[in-house]
Amino acid sequence: MAKAEQIKALIASHLERDDEHFVTVALQLAANEARRGHSVLAQDIRKLIDSRSKRNMKVVSGSGDLDDLVSSESTGEHLSSLVLSSDLTSKIDRIVQEFHQAEKLAKHGLDNRRKILLSGPPGTGKTMTAAVLAERTKLPFFAVQIDRLVTKYLGETSAKLRQIFSMIRERPGVYLFDEFDAIGTQRGSDNDVGEMRRVLNALLQFIEGDESSSLIVAATNSLSSLDIALFRRFDDVLHYGKPEAPQIEALVSNRLNVFLGDYSLNPVVRAAKGLSHAEITQACDDAIKDAVLSDQDKVKQKTIVAMLADRKAAYSRAL
Ligand SMILES: Nc1ncnc2c1ncn2[C@@H]1O[C@H](COP(=O)(O)OP(=O)(O)OP(=O)(O)O)[C@@H](O)[C@H]1O
Ligand SMILES: [Mg+2]
Repeated sequence: MAKAEQIKALIASHLERDDEHFVTVALQLAANEARRGHSVLAQDIRKLIDSRSKRNMKVVSGSGDLDDLVSSESTGEHLSSLVLSSDLTSKIDRIVQEFHQAEKLAKHGLDNRRKILLSGPPGTGKTMTAAVLAERTKLPFFAVQIDRLVTKYLGETSAKLRQIFSMIRERPGVYLFDEFDAIGTQRGSDNDVGEMRRVLNALLQFIEGDESSSLIVAATNSLSSLDIALFRRFDDVLHYGKPEAPQIEALVSNRLNVFLGDYSLNPVVRAAKGLSHAEITQACDDAIKDAVLSDQDKVKQKTIVAMLADRKAAYSRAL
């Protein structure tokens, strides 16, 4: 919606005492400003709404009866520590850049990339990427518990999906559908499987039809099990993988930080090869704990190598 339209809508909803609509439009205004790079103004508007709406009004849509399906997430840990290949990093930059300049694109009839599919093995940064997108666009971060849709609301899934997508329209944010394809592959009776497929298809249709200004991020571990036709519903598909040598080095030195000793990381990289970002991060934390418990101010090279080897051994046993 153009700015002029939003101002008119604000005035109209105020005069009609339609608080909910007022807040919805104000949030859209904040999202537009954030997109144009006016993040301070956007944040100010949101703060204003948050502080006033708690006192004066029924808080806007929020999740309402979607409480158990859509949860508001904090962007959490140190997002600057996300380590990815340069290819993925530039794809993420591109999404953020297009978001901030969506109006410019719209003038030429173009949409910013906003429906993103992330695929790759566990622990390689997919969820973290969604949080980074929220942080960099200054949008609130929501996680949609899609599995609950099937386990709890079988039979009324279409109605719930419609509600979720009206929230996505009314309340601009980054919406993460984590492991969204799990609903298509869960075990159950043939009937259940059929129902789950139906829900997955309905979800994909909703994603395809969505024209909101929210970012929709779907994450999956198993793209191969999905219909290839899925790709065309998304504006971009990002493929995640286990880290290569440069990313392993960056991960380890970020994580060990002041505990990093003055030694070559080559043996560390060799020991970490094949592990996911999450596993390497855990091995680093184990090594730091070890140093702390034995009153050392640096992690020894052989300790971190041993911790990584431990993780790998556990991993190969699990296979
Ligand atoms: N690319 C990365 N850079 C830095 N840390 C990472 C990265 N990937 C994972 N981690 C670490 O591992 C944790 C788990 O990662 P995350 O939840 O993003 O993985 P995921 O790809 O979503 O995995 P899953 O498929 O299991 O949901 C993060 O909180 C972070 O500590
Ligand atoms: Mg995840």
